[in-house]
Amino acid sequence: MPRGASLVAVLVLAAAAAGAEEPDPARQAELLHMLRQDCGSCHGMRLSGGLGPPLSPQALAGKDREALVAIVLDGVPGRPMPPWRPYLSEGEAFWLVDRLREGLR
Ligand code: HEC
Repeated sequence: MPRGASLVAVLVLAAAAAGAEEPDPARQAELLHMLRQDCGSCHGMRLSGGLGPPLSPQALAGKDREALVAIVLDGVPGRPMPPWRPYLSEGEAFWLVDRLREGLR
């Protein structure tokens, strides 16, 4: 393999390990749909709270990004928040948490 190609592979892997890779546009649409349908069933249609707490930028301000991603992937033991690891990669969970922290349009 030419040197340049292996460097690119290393960089891509490093980005994936840091949870920095972006889902492709089709998967982004799926994830946003899931956010409204599946997450919305507990966190409210507008994610402003229901059985689960609000997921608005205001509510999430100041909360640790990694800790929120861990909750999305692994759930909260003993609480209704389920683990989503079977359905989401770590990169996808970071992407979703970042969308929530920015606010959905
Ligand atoms: C069955 C109900 C339910 C579903 C479905 C659900 N959640 Fe939750 N979620 C909760 C509850 C309840 C909590 C609060 C847990 C606690 O008491 O600490 C929570 C907490 C959270 C938190 C932490 C909020 C904070 O302020 O600390 C995040 C982030 C979150 N959920 C994201 C999601 C996402 C993203 C989805 C969809 C992929 C989802 N949830 C689906 C019930 C749910």
